[in-house]
Amino acid sequence: MTKLENQSPRASHTPAMEKAIPMTSRRIGSWEVFISRRPLSSADLASRYDAVSGSWERTARRFQLEAAYREPLVTSQVARGIMQIGPEARILDCGIGNGSLSIALDSILQGPVYYHGIDTSAEMLVQASSKMQHAGLRAHLLQADVLTLPYDDQSFDVVMAAHVLEHLPDPQRALAEMVRVLRPGGMVFLCVTRHSIFGALVQLLWRTWAITEQQGVAWLHGFQLVDVGYQPVQLGSCAGFASTAFWARRPQ
Ligand SMILES: C[S@@+](CC[C@H](N)C(=O)[O-])C[C@H]1O[C@@H](n2cnc3c(N)ncnc32)[C@H](O)[C@@H]1O
Repeated sequence: MTKLENQSPRASHTPAMEKAIPMTSRRIGSWEVFISRRPLSSADLASRYDAVSGSWERTARRFQLEAAYREPLVTSQVARGIMQIGPEARILDCGIGNGSLSIALDSILQGPVYYHGIDTSAEMLVQASSKMQHAGLRAHLLQADVLTLPYDDQSFDVVMAAHVLEHLPDPQRALAEMVRVLRPGGMVFLCVTRHSIFGALVQLLWRTWAITEQQGVAWLHGFQLVDVGYQPVQLGSCAGFASTAFWARRPQ
């Protein structure tokens, strides 16, 4: 049974805090010219995802997202940690979309757990509710922004986000918020688009950041997380190894 709750996302950032995404730079004599692009605002992103929500399942199938997420979830020991905690484990999927990451995790777990999912797109949450219910997952879904999570500090055992951080004006701020709600000993799991031809296409279409492996690892270390790991993720046969999964643990 999935429970879907609507809550307008809180105002999450001011334009002054937005960083521009570096796209290219050129040296012309003594001149150095940088071209950067402003990321989409949370509101614009939510309406763009509302618009594509009806066809997102086709996208998820084309890139075989559930299968793609399963491998790093196993490597990262996220699933194992949850199994050790048992049915009372608390799991948060940020930018849940239509639920592919939670469904992938659930397919590895032995025994039922309860999922929490947030997304700024109301229409994506409708898709998640129906797909997760069909897959037999119990979930509480809420319209909220990863930049201002409506949860207490240290309230989840696993906090995860797939293909969300690269969209945000300040990905590190989102990561800080994810770490805030993570319990000591809990794990954070991320998947982001990496540098590739596919990544460049995504960047042009969606104004995303291109997050390198070095950057991702440095960010996780920057939040004093331990057991940091990463691996490339293959998105079906059409996009190749177009993403990177990162994981880390909050020290006890
Ligand atoms: C590329 S989709 C990924 C969906 C899902 N995680 C998956 O892997 O299939 C990105 C999702 O993040 C959501 N999103 C974007 N910005 C967000 C924000 N600031 N807070 C929460 N969700 C956000 C979008 O609405 C969309 O559903």
